[in-house]
Parts: sequence; C-alpha cells; structure tokens
Amino acid sequence: TNRTFTMIKPDAVKNGHIGAILQQINEAGFRIVALKYTKLSTEKAGEFYDVHRGRPFYDDLVSFMSSGPIVAAVLEKDNAVADFRTLIGATNPAEAAAGTIRAKYATSIGENAVHGSDSDENAAIESNFHFAGTEVFA
Ligand code: GTP
Ligand code: MG
Repeated sequence: TNRTFTMIKPDAVKNGHIGAILQQINEAGFRIVALKYTKLSTEKAGEFYDVHRGRPFYDDLVSFMSSGPIVAAVLEKDNAVADFRTLIGATNPAEAAAGTIRAKYATSIGENAVHGSDSDENAAIESNFHFAGTEVFA
C-alpha cells in the first residue's frame, strides 16, 4: 500500500535532529498524515518490539526506546515501505549509504536515529499501535 510508519528515536530527538529529519522525509516525497511527540513506557516499547523478544539486544533496545521522547508519524507515498527503508539506510549506520538518514544522524547500530516499518502489514499494525483513526489525516 502507500503508507508506512516511522519513529524518530530518542537519540535523534536528544541531538536536535527532529526538524532536519522531518524536512528530509518531506523532501523525499512523503506526506505526513499523522504526527505525535510522545514517550514510550518500557511496557509499550517492549510490546512494540515484541518480534525481537529473546534476541541478545532486546533489553537494550527496549530500554533505549523508552529512555526519552520520540516522534511517531504515519507517512504516505507510492511504494512507501520500501522507499522509506531506502531513505533511512541500513540498520548499522556504518553500513548505511551516504546521504541516508541513518548515515547522517545515527550514532550506532543500537542508537540509529529512526525506525521504518518493514512490511505493509507491520506498517498498519505499528500505525494503529500509536494512532487512533481520528488522528490520521489523509
Ligand atoms: P527498525 O526500523 O528500528 O525496526 O530497524 P531495522 O528494521 O533496520 O532493524 P531490526 O528490525 O532488525 O532491529 C530493530 C532495532 O533493534 C534496530 O533498529 C536497532 O536499533 C536494534 N538492533 C538490531 N540489531 C542490533 C544489534 O545487533 N545490536 C544492537 N545493540 N541493537 C540492534
Ligand atoms: Mg525493523
């Protein structure tokens, strides 16, 4: 479909990159259809990343994602999921292509500036996790 879900993670918020990241997202052709400045509890972060439960980095991931405020957003564009993954770059910023959001703003594989949904199905699940239908404006 034509929507994906993103979070600007606590490291990028703390480092003052909200504005630059949202600008890069817009300039890449994504429309913001929902937007929220919020903070995840450890319980909500654990639930969001439930797919990674049991992996060695799970506890660090949950504690990091609940360590400070985030920006959550739903984005609209043709081919949104795949095009947004291209825009953010590889999980590990050392492997992220030049100019991608992670290459520019991520500091490590754990603190990597942004999240992007990995499938249309997960984009819908993740959007519904953070936003009520009345908070999305197409
Ligand atoms: P997201 O968009 O955040 O889902 O990242 P991704 O899809 O590129 O990676 P993945 O879903 O595999 O992992 C989710 C998140 O877990 C990553 O963004 C990282 O923050 C973290 N993570 C993944 N692998 C590692 C790792 O090997 N070490 C650490 N510390 N964190 C990791
Ligand atoms: Mg992922």
